[in-house]
Amino acid sequence: MSIAEEFEFDPSKVWTNHRPFLTSSAIVGANYGDEGKGKMVDAIAEKYKKEGYKILSARGQGSGNAGHTVVVNGKKMDFHYLTSAGLSADAMLLGPGMLIDPIRLLEEIKKLPEEKQSIVLVAERAAIVTDVERAMDVWCENKRKETNQKIIGTTGSGVGPGVGNRGYRFHVTFADALKFKTAEELKEQYLKNPILPEEVKAVLTDEYAEELLNSIRKLNIIDSVAFLKKCRSEDNWALILEVSQGMGLDPLFGHEGHNVTSTPCTIIGAASGLGLSQWDMPEEAYLMVKAYTSKVGGGKLITKHTPKEEKLSSVIYDMVGERGVTTGRKRDVGWFDAVLTRYAMNLNQESTLCVNCMDVIPKIAKLTDRVPICVAYRNTQTGEVTYDYPYHVSDYEPVYQYVEASGKTDDEIISDYIKAIELYTGGKVVAYGVGPGRDALIWRK
Ligand code: IMP
Repeated sequence: MSIAEEFEFDPSKVWTNHRPFLTSSAIVGANYGDEGKGKMVDAIAEKYKKEGYKILSARGQGSGNAGHTVVVNGKKMDFHYLTSAGLSADAMLLGPGMLIDPIRLLEEIKKLPEEKQSIVLVAERAAIVTDVERAMDVWCENKRKETNQKIIGTTGSGVGPGVGNRGYRFHVTFADALKFKTAEELKEQYLKNPILPEEVKAVLTDEYAEELLNSIRKLNIIDSVAFLKKCRSEDNWALILEVSQGMGLDPLFGHEGHNVTSTPCTIIGAASGLGLSQWDMPEEAYLMVKAYTSKVGGGKLITKHTPKEEKLSSVIYDMVGERGVTTGRKRDVGWFDAVLTRYAMNLNQESTLCVNCMDVIPKIAKLTDRVPICVAYRNTQTGEVTYDYPYHVSDYEPVYQYVEASGKTDDEIISDYIKAIELYTGGKVVAYGVGPGRDALIWRK
């Protein structure tokens, strides 16, 4: 008897209902990251809860380079792998497109309230990053310096080398790691990677390999494709897709100089990294910006305040802080960039905007009678003006229009500023943030 005859095929197991999630939203950064996406994630989660949905909060890209602060039981906590919606979610899925440090993830999970700890699910196909990839990040930056190249200014999270390992097919997935019987096997697999210099490999000690494997075994590692199928079929799940970093840092669509990150920053890129199909594209998407632009790491911030505008930067540093959650580095700050925002809108084919840190603008307006908005770029060599975001941003300077502020109340300034953003981006500002709290989000009628 052949094996096929012994097996009784069950047709009811065949999945034919390819229906997408009943409802879903994506939150994406439209500038250079750190636009305050968490605030919108919270608002959407609350809306879905009120509508009676269970919430699946998910990521499909990025790594420990992302960072957001969440208040848990009155205490401020920094998270890098977990989503911003952790506290309101019924399930949190870290998708196959992510690169995850199991030890650091476990530390973050332990910071969650006990009842939320078991909702964190790791896709078995996600790749592992460790101190090895982080050491490789540093090694590459040092090599750039030694060979007189510009450094990238990475967050040092190992995301770039992690993606590189995948490209070279020397990565280790969570599914691979679960098969290792001993930490020695994990170590051997890692050390087989011929791309890694010996000094980088040395980071992987026996104790560290042991800790890695122990942490991996404590995680909820699942077949994320089957899980998404189950959620779709249960009919009461709403999906919130959180896209880390920002469009100006996208590895394909960012700018020159490789001062970009290593996983996609578009909604479609994140969706693909999670395992969503073209029919599952989020019903609603929110492009997050701030009332000004900020950037950390290498690469030109074209609208950066000039030395003469230092006082205006101080207003932002005093009110917002503008330090990276992941690195603690001070971010460069500059004027709102409608060119980059339009580019992000175009690539995501989405015009719904949410503008954070709007409370900064009336304060700035007290020091200057008019607030600039960058509406186009001018080539410094040819004088040519472009409305499109160019690859070689360093060849351009900003072209500004101004929002007059003198003699106006704070509310009038904010209202005119929002109208100007809508005019110069062609977008619709549906909400704006006026303070650090996650509840400081004002929806426009
Ligand atoms: P990497 O993603 O750590 O490789 O860093 C590449 C570039 O992206 C650097 O300029 C980083 O500062 C920047 N970057 C990466 N992640 C974030 C983020 O979440 N917010 C802001 N900048 C980021």
